[in-house]
This record gives sequence, C-alpha cells and structure tokens, in this order.
Amino acid sequence: MKKILIVFGTRPEAIKMAPLVKEFELHPEEFDVRVCVTAQHREMLDQVLTFFDIKPQYDLDLMKPGQDLYGLTAAIITELKPVLENFRPDYVFVHGDTTTTMASSIAGFYSGAKVCHIEAGLRTHNKYAPFPEEINRQITGRLTDYHFAPTNASKENLLRENIDTNNILVTGNTVIDALIQSVEKVKREPSPLVKELDNKLNNASLLLVTGHRRENHGDGFIRICEALKTIAIERKELQIVYPVHLNPKVLEPVNRILGNIENIHLIEPLAYHDFIWMMDRAKIIITDSGGVQEEAPSLGKPVLVMRETTERPEAVDAGTVILVGTNSQKIINETYALLDDDTHFKEMSSRHNPYGDGNACIRIVNFMKELELKKALEK
Ligand code: UD1
Ligand code: UDP
Repeated sequence: MKKILIVFGTRPEAIKMAPLVKEFELHPEEFDVRVCVTAQHREMLDQVLTFFDIKPQYDLDLMKPGQDLYGLTAAIITELKPVLENFRPDYVFVHGDTTTTMASSIAGFYSGAKVCHIEAGLRTHNKYAPFPEEINRQITGRLTDYHFAPTNASKENLLRENIDTNNILVTGNTVIDALIQSVEKVKREPSPLVKELDNKLNNASLLLVTGHRRENHGDGFIRICEALKTIAIERKELQIVYPVHLNPKVLEPVNRILGNIENIHLIEPLAYHDFIWMMDRAKIIITDSGGVQEEAPSLGKPVLVMRETTERPEAVDAGTVILVGTNSQKIINETYALLDDDTHFKEMSSRHNPYGDGNACIRIVNFMKELELKKALEK
C-alpha cells in the first residue's frame, strides 16, 4: 500500500484538493491517504474543511495575523519535518502556487518522497505578477516528479521547461470537479444567509467583487475601491456585493473607502457553497482571483480581471474574461460596457468549460494506480 500525504493551507488549495481527497479515499486498499493542513489560512480554510467534511490528520495551525513570507515559509518547512518523518509518505501532493505549495514541495523533496503537483504548469513568466505565486510555482515545478496540468497550454509550458512528457498528465482543473459536485445542491438549497442577502438585493442586477493579490496591495487597491465607489454612485440601481478577504492589507482600504455606501454590501468571506450561489446570482464578476476566473466561465458569467497579466489565458481566449488591471477608468468603462451593451454582455456570458469536465481527480488517481502497476511489473 502506498502512502500519500496531501498538503494544503489556503482556501483555494482546500477547495481544489477536497475532491481529490475524496477520490483517493475511494481506494483504501491501494492508498493510505492522510491530509496535512499548514493552516496558512485559518477561518477561510476551516469554512472549506467543514463544507467538504474533511478532518485533517495533521494541522500545523500556522496562521498568524499579518504574517510575512519569511516567517511563514520557514515555519512550514520546519513544522512539516516531524509529519514527514512520522508518516514517511511515498508521495507528497501539493497544489498550485501559494507559500504552502512551495515550502511543502521543498520539505517533501527533502524527505525523499516523490512530489506530485496539482494545477501544474501555469505561467506568466513575469517574476513579479502574480507575486510571489509565479516564482512559487516555478520552484515547485523544479521539485515535482509528477505534474498534473489543468490544460494543454499548461502542459506546453512544462514541455518548454524540458519536463519529461511521460511525467505530465493533462487532467482539467480540480476546481471544476468541486464546482460540479456542489452547484446543483447549492442552487436547490440556498442557505439562510444567502436568502437573506438576496432579499436585500431586491431583484437588482448584482456585481460580485473579490480581491486580494499582493501586487495590488497599496495603490492598486485604492484605485480598485475608487472605481467601485464611482460605479455604485453613478449606477444606483445596481447592487454590489463584496465578500472581503481577511488580509488586513485588503480589509483596511476596502472598509475605509467603501464602507457606508448604500448599494455596496461589504461582507465576510462567504463559505464556498454560498459563494457559488452568489456567482450564479451575479450579472458581472469583478475579481483578481485565480479560482474565480476558472469557475465563472462554467457558470456563464462575464469576468473583469483586475490584473495586468494572467496565467489563465484560456478564459480570455474563450471571451468570458477581460483583463482590466487596476486602472480605475478601465474598470468603470468595461463595467458600463457590459451593463449597457446587451450584445457584448451576451457574447461574454455564453458558457465555456476551458478548465475541465469535472473528472480531473479520477484521472489523477488512475494515473497513480497505473504508475504503481508499472513499478510492480518492473520489479
Ligand atoms: C494567500 C496566498 C495567495 C492565494 C490567497 C488565496 C501566498 C503568499 N499567498 O494570500 O497565493 O491566492 O492566499 O486567498 O501564499 N487571514 C485571516 N484569516 C484567514 C486567512 C487570512 O485572518 O483565514 C489574514 C491573516 O492576517 C493573514 C493574512 O490574512 O496573516 C494574509 O494571509 P496569507 O495567506 O499570508 O496571504 P493571502 O493574501 O491570504
Ligand atoms: N471563494 C469562497 N468565498 C468567497 C470568495 C471566494 O469560497 O467569499 C472561493 C471561490 O469560489 C474560489 C476560491 O475561493 O474557488 C478562490 O480563492 P481566492 O480568490 O482566495 O484565491 P485564488 O484563487 O486567487 O488563489
């Protein structure tokens, strides 16, 4: 039996790893699977663990308010050591491009385990955008033995870095597995919280906003908030819902600039099922999130992405996503274009599934089974 340690720490990693944990758990004869959370996030991680009913065997409980990259990176590597020495996994699974991803892949490599990277091969080739995620995923890519790429474009990026094609599998993104497994139930049974919020919206068009990227902290967030304020004031018939990320560098400018505007609802981060419901309810989504860029095309929602560059070109190519950066005027103009030009809105809101068919986790687990079979035959 092969031992697998699945490590994650933030909200998006948890959402995207949850269906993989569940899929591995269907094969207890072949895999002894344990989950280790670094808890780089706390409340936002726990919301996801509760929704998917995942009880980690190891919880490093590392989040500190206002944490910095130095301390967090060091703590993850150090605190993973006893877990790795105790469990001695054959494979360590990491996801995406957070500090948890990068530091856990280093620790996994030090332990002698094979490193398996989910959502491998995304690149902007700009060291500073997104910061520090682009470098996190490049470092993780160097340490990885088996790369699970969401799309052909991400596989191509890995091939250009001379990764052996036999060690790459194109799977689709596991976020679509999570979405498909949750969306119907969420639509059928909206929670009391979203029902109450929806009542306040009074059938108005909804603009849903999220934002947290480090490269937007400071001036970028001020320009984003100024744009939202202008939109709210000039378009009083519109309602804006903004579940604000708990990072103090985000909370401060958002509350200062957007607090007390009648048609802007600043709320706490929504639990995953409530957020899916809100995405489905929204007319337009404005975000700098990676995960939301992947989910929204499946729901047929136009997305304005507050970034200069994206490692997710598929949705831009499909026409559901437009990059607006953090230029206030551009955010305002593109929002008004969607509100005022019905043809443009319809073009951007047709459904696309560039990120997968919901079977990514089955493909990953099958790959691992075949890998073990091949190894057994070679012996
Ligand atoms: C992190 C990731 C980013 C990912 C994002 C998803 C890094 C460097 N950044 O950014 O790649 O896209 O998560 O949301 O890995 N906080 C809480 N409670 C929580 C979560 C965060 O209070 O549940 C606050 C804490 O003060 C914490 C701060 O937010 O110190 C920053 O958290 P951190 O994980 O370092 O950065 P994020 O901006 O969340
Ligand atoms: N999300 C959520 N609640 C919210 C906002 C987002 O559950 O209030 C989910 C969203 O559906 C997506 C993920 O969180 O799956 C994106 O996380 P985030 O934007 O924090 O990180 P990123 O994807 O940019 O790394």
